[in-house]
Amino acid sequence: MTGDPTVLAAEPLPPAPRLDRAAIEQIVGSGRHLLVQGGMGIDASDGLAGKIAAHRGPRLVGVGTISAVVKTEAQLRAEIRRAKQESAGGYFGVNLMAAINKGDFERCARIAIEEQVSFLVQGAGISREIIRWCRDGGVPFVGIVSSGRLAAMYEKWGAEWLVAEGAEAGGHIGDIGHPLPSLVDEVVAATSLPVVAAGGVDASDVSRFLRQGAVGVQLATRFLACSDGDVHPAFKAMHVGKRPEDVVIITSCVKGMKARAVRNAFTDKLARGEAVPPRSKRWYFGPDGYEGRKSSCIQCLGEGLCKCRASGFKESFCITDALLLAAIEGDTENGLFYTGQSLLRIPERDVSELPSAAEILADLEAQLANDAAAAAAAPCGCAGDGTSREALA
Ligand SMILES: Cc1cc2nc3c(=O)[nH]c(=O)nc-3n(C[C@H](O)[C@H](O)[C@H](O)COP(=O)(O)O)c2cc1C
Repeated sequence: MTGDPTVLAAEPLPPAPRLDRAAIEQIVGSGRHLLVQGGMGIDASDGLAGKIAAHRGPRLVGVGTISAVVKTEAQLRAEIRRAKQESAGGYFGVNLMAAINKGDFERCARIAIEEQVSFLVQGAGISREIIRWCRDGGVPFVGIVSSGRLAAMYEKWGAEWLVAEGAEAGGHIGDIGHPLPSLVDEVVAATSLPVVAAGGVDASDVSRFLRQGAVGVQLATRFLACSDGDVHPAFKAMHVGKRPEDVVIITSCVKGMKARAVRNAFTDKLARGEAVPPRSKRWYFGPDGYEGRKSSCIQCLGEGLCKCRASGFKESFCITDALLLAAIEGDTENGLFYTGQSLLRIPERDVSELPSAAEILADLEAQLANDAAAAAAAPCGCAGDGTSREALA
């Protein structure tokens, strides 16, 4: 449920601070690291960016991310201005998937640049144009990478920092054979840019990835299961008390990419090879449709990238329907509940126990303080795993 555009400030708010390479070097130089909240479409991460961006703790600087996927102009501007209000001058950016319809991709990028967010981050495909738009508009560009080769390429193209996303991540996963610990080593070796580690991370891993040379970590799934995000309560409930057999890998309609989701009647249907064609989205976008597109298929993806549309709606499924049904309606039978492997590390057993975003951040701070204390107390001046006192100070 995106912020209500009717409560927007009439004038755009002041720019968010730029999160570029120099800003990150300054943060790291001051002994702190980045705690990035990963953007989650469609609308799954709404309401989170400003809350995470407001965090400026002793060891972590919070960084929020808004997902622009299938947002109307009014919805995206509302979510950005809401984050500006809630973050009180903190860092937050906008996530764009290169696989979406080219017109929407450019429209959303231009809105984010006009609103002067802290950075634009691109996932699920590569567009070089966005790097030029960002340079011209004075907004740092960030790439999501699944290999050292891509990291080196993005550095050459002008990215300011990178997110290395491993196989444990949620939603669409690229190279599902590349686990995060080895990916971080590969990416850090391939680039001089600051690298943020993402995919399956929880509080107990943060020190380890910082030791490997990351400037911070990105968490997404953990923030789905928090008390104050906008995502439907049923989505949160799908994230508690789960076992390994509750997590499945599906074939998405987006380029046939693999994706991780919570198992339910919908993923069972996909496993049986049943097609789920698009249905009307009037209930969500109203009679004017999505940016004027009123048919059941709103052509959310780039030309030729939707397996459902390419098959004349006889195969695969409509991803916009499935994700909206999950995030907005909380339809546990027909919705698609993307998740990450860290779903299995969520300790709470009931929605009523879920912590707020601020409490999750406080836990992360506490764990880092414990790790530093353990390193300081070790006779060799290092933690049991080799962490030096200086690295965790
Ligand atoms: C429900 C869901 C939706 C996601 N949507 C997107 C997206 O639209 N764009 C993107 O780049 N990453 C997306 N991701 C990936 C996350 O931003 C994040 O990088 C990844 O899940 C790693 O963090 P985690 O393991 O803590 O979830 C999504 C993840 C989830 C769980």
